[in-house]
Amino acid sequence: MLGTIKLPTSLLRLIAVFFTGAALTTIFSDTYYVLYGQTNVKFLNNSKVVQLALTNSTGSGFASKVPYLFGQFSMKVKLVAGDSAGTVTSYYMASTTKNWCELDFEFLGNSTGQPYILQTNVFAEGVGNREQRIYLWFDPSADYHEYGILWNQALIMFLVDGKVIRVFHRATDLKVPYLDYQPMYIYSTIWNGETWATQGGRVKTNWTAQPFVASYTGLGKNNACGVKDSSSTRDLHACYAMLYQSSYGQPPNLALSQTQISQLKLVHDKYLIYDYCTDLNRFGGVQPPECGRNWPSVSLIVEPGQRNDIEFRSHGLSMFERSPHLTRDSFTV
Ligand SMILES: *[C@@H]1O[C@H](CO)[C@@H](O)[C@H](O)[C@H]1NC(C)=O
Ligand SMILES: *[C@@H]1O[C@H](CO)[C@@H](O)[C@H](O)[C@H]1NC(C)=O
Ligand SMILES: *[C@@H]1O[C@H](CO)[C@@H](O)[C@H](O)[C@H]1NC(C)=O
Ligand SMILES: *[C@@H]1O[C@H](CO)[C@@H](O)[C@H](O)[C@H]1NC(C)=O
Repeated sequence: MLGTIKLPTSLLRLIAVFFTGAALTTIFSDTYYVLYGQTNVKFLNNSKVVQLALTNSTGSGFASKVPYLFGQFSMKVKLVAGDSAGTVTSYYMASTTKNWCELDFEFLGNSTGQPYILQTNVFAEGVGNREQRIYLWFDPSADYHEYGILWNQALIMFLVDGKVIRVFHRATDLKVPYLDYQPMYIYSTIWNGETWATQGGRVKTNWTAQPFVASYTGLGKNNACGVKDSSSTRDLHACYAMLYQSSYGQPPNLALSQTQISQLKLVHDKYLIYDYCTDLNRFGGVQPPECGRNWPSVSLIVEPGQRNDIEFRSHGLSMFERSPHLTRDSFTV
């Protein structure tokens, strides 16, 4: 991922597996530490809120102290308001070992009044190139919204306020690697992505408007298996044992419900603006094998020139003009 900072392996600690329960970790330092840009990190409301700022001297970020192997993760984020063009605010998980795994939420800022883009991506064994971009059905800078990941042996769900916006199913039978042996750390960062983030990089960061501040809360809601020593097979096995006993590793979480299928179809039909699955030029004309499995019963046929431009070039029209079906606060299935 562009511009992100990976955790030094010196931070790996050699203790046994532990488990974070919902009520245990309401305080930042139980789970996280400041990764970089300390001067731009603020704690508010008894450390229940962390604010990350981007200035012309640095971005900032925090990360989990240990990586996790499977679980349910979430964070409430209120994005940079007003002029956020050029900024990228992220919430993601990533491993630090060779052929890494990564699950990304990246919020691409915009000029005042223009819509953010939420880009998600999945890296399995070091290979990403699975970007999807959507518009949200609300203004993500007006209030906190919850962004979540459910990761088990069968699938990975990306959730926005509890609604599925993306799924990545196990497809090892199709020779697609799955994220099932590398524990991942949790990261939250804000950084300058002006070379690519806003309207394909045409709109740069306006430093007169700094600092750009994003707020994070809901820090203690993960239900996941933390790994103190990633190199210990015993610790990894303990997370598998935990998985099969946990709510996140058992039905109904091993497959999408009918409601979740409807949510995904709605995202596909109303909010999707870029999908690697239909950008076949990137893949020698052949659709990546997992695509058919991950979009349930929707047509993946793309009209030439539609939805296959990663820069999503602006034609000088507003979002609503170009996407007349798109209305705010209308996510109901
Ligand atoms: C801190 O808590 C107060 C009271 O609940 C709330 O109104 C305020 O928005 C919180 N601050 C941030 C930055 O979230
Ligand atoms: C960063 O912004 C500050 C405040 O606007 C300004 O004084 C400073 O010169 C800027 N630094 C750089 C490297 O642009
Ligand atoms: C910013 O706004 C423009 C114009 O509405 C739109 O084309 C673009 O998708 C928006 N988002 C980003 C991140 O560029
Ligand atoms: C940059 O931000 C400043 C302060 O918010 C604003 O007055 C100015 O119009 C902005 N410039 C551009 C090019 O948007």
